[in-house]
Amino acid sequence: MHAVASASRLKGQTIVLVPTMGFLHEGHLSLVRQGRKLGNQLIVSIFVNPTQFGPNEDFEDYPRDFNRDVQMVAQENADIVFAPEAADIYPANFQTFVNTTNLSNKLCGLSRPSHFKGVTTVVAKLFNIVQPHIAIFGKKDFQQLIIIRQMVCDLNFDIKIIGAATFRESDGLAMSSRNTYLSQRQRSSAPALYQALLNAQKMVNANIKKTSTLIQKTTQFIEARPETQIDYIAICDPRTLEDLKLVKQPALMALAVKIGRTRLIDNMILTP
Ligand code: PAJ
Repeated sequence: MHAVASASRLKGQTIVLVPTMGFLHEGHLSLVRQGRKLGNQLIVSIFVNPTQFGPNEDFEDYPRDFNRDVQMVAQENADIVFAPEAADIYPANFQTFVNTTNLSNKLCGLSRPSHFKGVTTVVAKLFNIVQPHIAIFGKKDFQQLIIIRQMVCDLNFDIKIIGAATFRESDGLAMSSRNTYLSQRQRSSAPALYQALLNAQKMVNANIKKTSTLIQKTTQFIEARPETQIDYIAICDPRTLEDLKLVKQPALMALAVKIGRTRLIDNMILTP
């Protein structure tokens, strides 16, 4: 992959990378379609990255369907699928990790303490191997997106990071490979995440600015649905992820909710 990428660069091609963990859905494909327009060497990586899963998380169970993924990527006219083996990315003597400090300790970092360290490490490696000019990440994983931006800035990667809009099911549920874990009953609770975010914006429109009130109402709304258990609901500064007391400027509302054993996340920028 490294040799192919180097050759593309010598030919003056613009390399675009869309990193994924596979089991692709329309959300991923919306990134691929955006990427197709931005360069002439479009690379989709598929790698279920073991280092971003905690010891009790779903690494083993994470859904995989490589042949289907390759077909979907081919239909979008991507040029290359890069799907390394774990032993290639993390050989036996591997010992170097990339970690952001402040940003990775908040929101999802609180319940998934080593998650973002795994993400930044694998993304840094993908960047070095694939040597993209442009890389695309979804805003569905807002914290991941800004952590990657921070890493690119801090470590002087010469890569343009594009944030792509969240792609949703018709009932508003953000598409995710993990949605396949949901039973029918759990699936009917799942749109509550997006509805809760929309409700919060409506409350802001009605001049309710106190984040404690917004979070309390949102908690009640979500907890009323079967099988939901809130991990966190936060309203914070979209650059620093520091909690806000009032929605006076655009604020990130982010939430993580367990539905049964499946942990789902969603977010929205609340605008006063
Ligand atoms: P994965 O969850 O497979 O997601 C790959 C990319 O697709 C991420 O940038 C994610 O934000 C984006 N994405 C997922 N669902 C989306 C949706 N409904 N709408 C828009 N974009 C969506 O995120 C990862 O993999 C990994 O952490 C990775 C960055 C590949 C590093 O291992």
